[in-house]
This record gives sequence, structure tokens and C-alpha cells, in this order.
Amino acid sequence: MISYKELGLVNTKEMFAKAIEGGYAIPAFNFNNMEQLQAIISAAAETKSPVILQVSKGARQYANQTLLRYMAEGAVEYAKELGWENPQIVLHLDHGDSFETCKSCIDMGFSSVMIDGSHLEYDENVALTKKVVEYAHQFDVTVEGELGVLAGVEDEVSSDHHTYTKPEEVVDFVTKTGCDSLAISIGTSHGAYKFTPEQCTTDPETGLLVPPMLAFDVLEGVEKELPGFPIVLHGSSSVPQDEVATINQYGGALKAAIGIPEPWLRKAAESAVCKINIDSDSRLAMTAAIREVFATKPAEFDPRKYLGPARDNMKKLYIHKIVNVLGSNGKAE
Ligand code: G3H
Ligand code: 13P
Ligand code: ZN
Repeated sequence: MISYKELGLVNTKEMFAKAIEGGYAIPAFNFNNMEQLQAIISAAAETKSPVILQVSKGARQYANQTLLRYMAEGAVEYAKELGWENPQIVLHLDHGDSFETCKSCIDMGFSSVMIDGSHLEYDENVALTKKVVEYAHQFDVTVEGELGVLAGVEDEVSSDHHTYTKPEEVVDFVTKTGCDSLAISIGTSHGAYKFTPEQCTTDPETGLLVPPMLAFDVLEGVEKELPGFPIVLHGSSSVPQDEVATINQYGGALKAAIGIPEPWLRKAAESAVCKINIDSDSRLAMTAAIREVFATKPAEFDPRKYLGPARDNMKKLYIHKIVNVLGSNGKAE
């Protein structure tokens, strides 16, 4: 059993309380490899933003959970080396699918876990979330639960329909489970294809596709039921169209990839939404930069020559999200 405290990590409790109070949100960026981690930490250190490092089940399989844990420990030291004296870094399990997975992460130094029982019957979701909370809280590890089902398909995280969170259920769920934050469904979804073009309208000025508005009434309903309680938004990538264009220009074949407009996320960040999950945008930034190098410098074969630009492009994206979308810059001086 390793405590996250020994690794210099923090849980989400204080971070979320300050974010709700201050009208901003904490970035939760997924990582699977060293370049993503370097980009996240250097962006957070440069902007002095608290940050949540998220590890999905897929990431654990891809990179090995032990290695990821040591990488997160290394990230704290790296942040200090970059001049961030008091790094506020959470190591979080994204979409934990069982008590055993959550326990295993807690036992090896994660400071926060999500137990995603959103696909289960309500009572089963309550029972599973409660079991994880009871274990996690013994070690001061915070727990994110989920109510409502997100649409979309993304590797390990899939659901072919979406059901908005029912505000009338949230008090009962939070009271019975004791969870520390709640992921809700208000129309966001995982991946780079969140909406079909048919679901969108065209902006007459820019010609860009505008997706259907998020269900802010559901968010307001939840906030009314649970004043001051930390709310989480998954599936919050914006799918930057310049990255999509670069990918396609250099041989990619992404079709009508559409995300959540950033002003809508900014609005959410000003509410009780205090954690915003972003993964796909980082994948796009990485892929765009690598494709560009491959296409423009075909003789290049040193991985540092394409992973380096990929890292730079991801860092630029993370700083943009922190400063212009979430507003978390300067909140962890
Ligand atoms: O919520 C989903 C995240 O984007 C993680 O995706 O399961 O492919 O690592 P993944
Ligand atoms: P995106 O696919 O929109 O980046 O969402 C990521 C996410 O919710 C991770 O849990
Ligand atoms: Zn998610």
C-alpha cells in the first residue's frame, strides 16, 4: 500500500471547493505516454494551474499501471524542477469499471478514482459507488461517481444512446454513496465525433457547423438540488478544426469531426462544474503535428523529431484550455 501523499500528490477536495468558489474548472487531461505527461506538466507549471492526470483502463493496459504511477511521481518532481514550488497534481483513475480496479489504483498511489456505474441499474450504481467510497475514504482518496449516460463510442468507454442526468435523483445518489463529485450527462460525449452534421446548424458568418446546445437546464437543475457540490463534465473536447484540417491535409481521413464549442465549456466552468475532461483534443494535436513532420520531412526517422513537435503542439493546446476555457491559471501558485 502506497499513499499518494508520499508521492507529493493531492486529492480533489480542496481543489474542487476553490474551483466552485472561484468560478473556474480544473483540467482533467488523460495521459498514456511520456510526451503527453511532459506537455501537461509543463503547461500546468507555466500557468500555475492545478491539474488532474487521468489514467483510463486503456491507458493502464497500454502503458502499464506501475509505470504510469511512477511517471506521476516523477511528474511532481519534474514540476518542481520547472519552478512550480507547490505543484497541485491529482492522479486519477478515469472510468473505473469495478471495485477491484479502483482498489488496485488506490493501493498503488492514486489520489482520486472514478467509479463509473452509469450503465448499471440505479440501485446497483449506488451500491457499487458506495463500496468504492467506503474503501477510498479510509485513505483520504476522493471518488467521482456518475449518473446519466453519455452518448458516443470511445474504445473502452461506450454507450450508443444518451440519457441526461435526472436532477431529482442526484441528492439521493450523493447522500447514499457519499461520493465527492458527480459526473453528469448534459449532451457531451466521448471522442471526436460527438454530433452528426445533420444534428448541427450552420453558422451564417463562419460557415462552421454548430452542434445542438448542451442541456444547461439539466445542469441548473442539478445545481439547485446540490448547491455547491462538485460537478464533472466528461466528453469535453472541442475538436479544434485547425488540427482536423492539418491531419486531413497531410494524409489523414477524419470526416466531419465535431466537438463542444469552447464558449459553452467556459460557461460550464463558471458554474458548479469544477472538472472538465479532455482527451480527444490532445490526440488530435499530437496526430496533426506528427503527420505534418512525416509529410514535410519524409527522410526524418528520429522519433524525437516528430514526438518533440507533437509534445509542443499538445502543450500549446493545454495552455489554451487552461487560460482561455477553464480559467484555472494562477490558481496553484
Ligand atoms: O473517457 C475516455 C477517455 O478518452 C479514455 O479513452 O479508454 O481510449 O483511453 P481510452
Ligand atoms: P473527450 O473524448 O471529449 O476528450 O472526453 C474525454 C473524457 O471524458 C475522458 O474521461
Ligand atoms: Zn470520460
